[in-house]
Amino acid sequence: MSLIHQINTQNIPQHIAIIMDGNGRWAKQHGENRIYGHYEGVNSVREVVEAAGTIGVKYMTLYAFSTENWNRPKEEVEALMELLISTISAETPQLNKKNVRLQAIGNLNSLPTNCLNELNESIEQTANNTGLTLILALSYSSKWEIQNAMQQIATKVKAAVLQPEDITEKIIEQHLCTNKFPDPELMIRTSGERRISNFLLWQLAYAEFYFTDKLWPDFRKEDLFEAIINYQTRERRFGKTSEQITQH
Ligand code: FPP
Repeated sequence: MSLIHQINTQNIPQHIAIIMDGNGRWAKQHGENRIYGHYEGVNSVREVVEAAGTIGVKYMTLYAFSTENWNRPKEEVEALMELLISTISAETPQLNKKNVRLQAIGNLNSLPTNCLNELNESIEQTANNTGLTLILALSYSSKWEIQNAMQQIATKVKAAVLQPEDITEKIIEQHLCTNKFPDPELMIRTSGERRISNFLLWQLAYAEFYFTDKLWPDFRKEDLFEAIINYQTRERRFGKTSEQITQH
């Protein structure tokens, strides 16, 4: 029986962030090359996005390509870009059918032009959808994002548009690429690694972390439900005591 029935519909995380790790190892286990693992990973993306939308998750951020991933072998980088282009192009009608709005964060101008064009086209075509917002982190790293925000803020201070004492948490957040989205309550990482790897360092300040040994191509709908059920057993205290949380 599906785990969906065990989910408390009153406590669905509104934003889930995922580090989709283990495609390469999955491919190796199946005697294939790494690229094959990324292709299979797309099937997990499709299933997990659809399941998240069905249960009412509002935002899902997927770490699809990190700044550091540019250092992978040229063939793998090229194959990943090709895969992104073909997937976005092929899946856009499905995104519309499922009422999913596509967004992206990262140093998008560093993507190949055809990839950026495909991405922008899909973002435009899905802009009016009101279900899940799917945010792809592409050429993204948190340190890059924070550096970028600092530069924008420093420029404003230099121009006397902002005073140093005006720099609050809110101002910093407004200069991050995620300024249109709430912070994730739940971060999932697959493949047994227990690291944050330069992903949403600011935004995950109070998130619950869920780690699973499953490799990304094996992570499917029921695994997402399991992660959410696990999240729902946790008490989120935001630095307060347990008593303060339960008092009304
Ligand atoms: C990590 O596995 C995965 C990536 C760097 C790429 C993720 C991309 C996809 C799942 C496909 C494209 C996604 C979308 C949204 C269209 P790894 O290669 O680091 O695996 P390993 O640790 O086993 O080597």
